[in-house]
Amino acid sequence: MSESLINAEIPGDMSAWWMPFTANRQFKGAPRLLVGAKDMHYSSHDGRRILDGTAGLWCSNAGHCREPIVRAIQSQAAEMDFAPAFQMGHPKAFELASRVAALAPGDLDHVFFSNSGSEAVDTALKIALAYHRVRGEAARTRLIGRERGYHGVGFGGISVGGIGPNRRTFGPLLPGVDHLPHTHDPAKNAFSRGMPQHGAEHADALERIVALHDPSTIAAVIVEPVAGSTGVLVPPVGYLERLRAICDKYGILLIFDEVITGFGRLGAPYAANHFGVVPDMITVAKGLTSGTVPMGATIARKHVYDAFMQGPEHMIELFHGYTYSAHPLACAAGLATLDVYRDERLFENAKALSPAWEEAVHGLRGARHVVDLRNLGIVAGVELTPRDGAPGRRAFDVFVRCYEQGLLTRVTGDIIALSPPLMLKQEHIDEMFGILRRALDSVD
Ligand SMILES: Cc1ncc(COP(=O)(O)O)c(C=O)c1O
Repeated sequence: MSESLINAEIPGDMSAWWMPFTANRQFKGAPRLLVGAKDMHYSSHDGRRILDGTAGLWCSNAGHCREPIVRAIQSQAAEMDFAPAFQMGHPKAFELASRVAALAPGDLDHVFFSNSGSEAVDTALKIALAYHRVRGEAARTRLIGRERGYHGVGFGGISVGGIGPNRRTFGPLLPGVDHLPHTHDPAKNAFSRGMPQHGAEHADALERIVALHDPSTIAAVIVEPVAGSTGVLVPPVGYLERLRAICDKYGILLIFDEVITGFGRLGAPYAANHFGVVPDMITVAKGLTSGTVPMGATIARKHVYDAFMQGPEHMIELFHGYTYSAHPLACAAGLATLDVYRDERLFENAKALSPAWEEAVHGLRGARHVVDLRNLGIVAGVELTPRDGAPGRRAFDVFVRCYEQGLLTRVTGDIIALSPPLMLKQEHIDEMFGILRRALDSVD
């Protein structure tokens, strides 16, 4: 990292960038600027090293500015900057699709590329609707999400999503959407290590939704196997299996949104491998390129793809796609990222470190303000009691204190989430939880 980068100036005028999911006025009054990154660390504009406790935004699973990925992107930019993906193709797109599919369980064999998790989700929802239609079940148009679910910010994603503030200011959203109840039950499951024991029965709410609307109207159910953005909710033992069984019973497609859980977060390629439950589609993004170049993908099972491969061969089978689907830079980054995962055995590292991670997470039991601790793989949720009359303020103060002390965390409401790059070592775990504990102690 060059000196000039490490001691960067704060921009004089910060008004033009309307920042996403950010308290713009507060931020611009006291900015936190990142100017460099390497492996497990960021560097801040004031020259400090910040341990990345969140893999950026749950995406830099291979660590930052990794040499093989940087080189692959650089040489791809020089070799072929762009190639259309409509009625044209390029070799790396096919290679990446094969490798992404090969990591998935069962016959999840086909990959549709997009540019973000939100697009991967909208793609999956559209494929689900079109799938039923091409098979002669055009009445199956209902989509079922879940309370507290996060599926990005497209109209499809916020419609099936279940986080109030992400929905409430944006009008009527998609029609014909229903929601399962969330699975969070602190009275029974607080401080669970790994999967909570109680709550598989929440999946049975799908039976009630089916009874209400009739199965012939329901296209798909979409859930995050481990809900991330809402503040880390690990599925209860048996819950995902039950959802799968009910979907099978009624011919409903099951979609796992693995934008966060994909690419090693749980110590396996996808949560579907980890839990041994095979959905009909998986959405991914983030870790697919380790966050280096935007890319999303929707992985579909053979029967889904095959349903479209009918009729005259000169006809386009699915009227959907993005200018930047399978962008050459993203494909090059994706291939190099998968190489790093494989060559450095990063998924295996995540799996091997999960018990130590769990110990460290639950070492915070009894720490100031902490009312629940949740973990799975290399993910943690630390829930705090809200400050009276000021929900979210306490966790935000902890976030700022951690940042000042050299640790990047992520906050949702009064929950602090941790999900570092998968190249982490025990020493990083110790440092992370040491800083977090001191921050908790220092905040009222
Ligand atoms: C489960 C899930 N789905 C979808 C998304 C949206 O991804 P993106 O921000 O790339 O559109 C996210 C982002 O955090 C996510 O966690």
